[in-house]
Amino acid sequence: MNIGREVIRLGEVDSTNTYAEGLAENGAMHGTVVIAESQTSGKGRLGRIWISPPGGIYMSIILRPRMELKDSTLLTMMAGVACCRALRDATGLDIRIKWPNDLIVSGRKLGGILTEVKSREHRIEFVVVGIGINVDVLSEGFPPEVREIATSIGNEKLREQPKDALLRALLNEVDRWYDIFMEKGGRPVLKEWRRFAAMLGKSVKVTVGKEETTGIAEDIDDQGLLIMRLQSGILRKISAGDLTILRQQ
Ligand code: BTN
Repeated sequence: MNIGREVIRLGEVDSTNTYAEGLAENGAMHGTVVIAESQTSGKGRLGRIWISPPGGIYMSIILRPRMELKDSTLLTMMAGVACCRALRDATGLDIRIKWPNDLIVSGRKLGGILTEVKSREHRIEFVVVGIGINVDVLSEGFPPEVREIATSIGNEKLREQPKDALLRALLNEVDRWYDIFMEKGGRPVLKEWRRFAAMLGKSVKVTVGKEETTGIAEDIDDQGLLIMRLQSGILRKISAGDLTILRQQ
């Protein structure tokens, strides 16, 4: 097991990703993990804030894969698959992945992944995979604007969760899926990702800044881009954005 051999546990920190980036810049080894009890400036995707009160899992994993920058999206998908597998097994909840990498249950967000990459001449120097999971954060712990769209394992299961066991399970699965990815490439990752995907074949809206695209989420391509069929029948690939499932089909 390479991932989690070195674990740094912090109380409160600004962001475990920022902390891990600093360590990686100073040569921290592949698989180093930073875990915090809470974050004061947790970072979400698309420049958002990740609300991080005590009771959640906030961790960042430093990876040093020998790989081209263009394949880094697949690393995020690998982490999504690993987290989904670990949390499904540990909780029994029907946790799914919403493109690009939201972990959802009963239509609400339970966790997210933010991957930050440092590269040089198209090659990856290091990657920090940041994972945030709402474990024992009750609805009241979320600000009003996210209360309707977020949930936690505690909310869903109505009892306290053993956070350390969840952490171990997450690290074990990331370790296992990282090895699969390095040995066999993206194909098995994408196959598993599709199995857990919440939105394939459904009518969706993707928002990128002010631009909205609606259509059917047909598939993901071999780099993890979303393939959407627009009303005109044209297929469009989308690399980033916020996806809303419009109706079940
Ligand atoms: C998302 O927007 O869905 C991604 C959220 C990622 C949050 C995690 S919490 C641990 C790590 N440190 C951060 O500052 N962000 C990530």
